[in-house]
Amino acid sequence: MSQKTTLRQFLKANEANLPAPLSELDHLLHSIARTAKTVHAHVTRAAITDLYGTAGSSNIQGEEQQKLDVLANTLFVTTFRESNLVCVVGSEEEEEIILMDNNDAEYVVAMDPLDGSSNIDVNVSIGTIFSVFKRKSEKGTKPKVEDVLQKGTEQLIGGYVLYGTATAFVFTTGNGVHIFTYDPKGGEFLLTHTNLEIVKDSKTYSCNEGGFLGFTEGVKKYIDFCKEEGDYKARYIGSLVADFHRNMLKGGIFIYPSTQKTPKGKLRLLYECNPLAFIAEQAGGKAYDGRVRIMEIEPESLHQRTTYYVGSANMVDKALELIETHE
Ligand code: AHG
Ligand code: MN
Ligand code: MN
Ligand code: MN
Repeated sequence: MSQKTTLRQFLKANEANLPAPLSELDHLLHSIARTAKTVHAHVTRAAITDLYGTAGSSNIQGEEQQKLDVLANTLFVTTFRESNLVCVVGSEEEEEIILMDNNDAEYVVAMDPLDGSSNIDVNVSIGTIFSVFKRKSEKGTKPKVEDVLQKGTEQLIGGYVLYGTATAFVFTTGNGVHIFTYDPKGGEFLLTHTNLEIVKDSKTYSCNEGGFLGFTEGVKKYIDFCKEEGDYKARYIGSLVADFHRNMLKGGIFIYPSTQKTPKGKLRLLYECNPLAFIAEQAGGKAYDGRVRIMEIEPESLHQRTTYYVGSANMVDKALELIETHE
């Protein structure tokens, strides 16, 4: 087996292509990786340590928080506070921005600490999704929500962790998409894929068709198109990170459209759609809301939702074409 590259070695070798000082990005990414290892450990032992089930609280999304939602949120917020590099965090699990008590820190994080919560108790892959930005407000001042409400095009880092059969740490800093796989034996994340590219065409579509009757005409036409082709596969795990990761590696389109229950879509722009859009585009894929490029959307609120079409470029184009023709 060839000697694998560590995260530190990779960042050092690619220092010239980093969007911020190596020492800071190294510290930030290792902080995230270290916390991902802790979440990995909790996720794998959750049934034994009674960490399945609900925490007895709800979040701003109107969702019942799972114990692991709350734990992952606490772990990552603590990590960002202790990193001394982050001034403010926006999290799915907290209504308002979370100040890191360090107004001199330059970085901002938007995160979904645990994605796919409905799958925690049934031993199906879940994840963490995050974006890193430079603050907009003056260094030394109290950070503001505008520091988090930044367009996807402003991201320095877009990344996710997939707690699956293996724990994978996937991110882009704007120079390609790279996958580091956790080696429990050595305790390190090791480089297992560089400059990932998503194929332009594939035959896998990923959509919760339970909402089909409430889909708009164009989306119905696209789903029918996939079925009429006869050789498409429908794959839907119900954890965005897992569905997205499969499509990144094998090609495919993930769709969360407008439904009767979620007319503006279900997924959150800032800490689900933007980071994955950055990764998709860096791998040669596309991410749209059905009309506009996800990363161009000007955020108005922390938890705003959007419709989402992401994955293989030609498949997204086909969906957009049918939406444009029929809506
Ligand atoms: P989260 O667990 O962070 O709230 O996100 C859940 C999301 C996403 O992971 C997944 O793609 C989607 O919800 C599934 O929604 P449906 O169950 O409505 O298909
Ligand atoms: Mn949730
Ligand atoms: Mn999520
Ligand atoms: Mn979540």
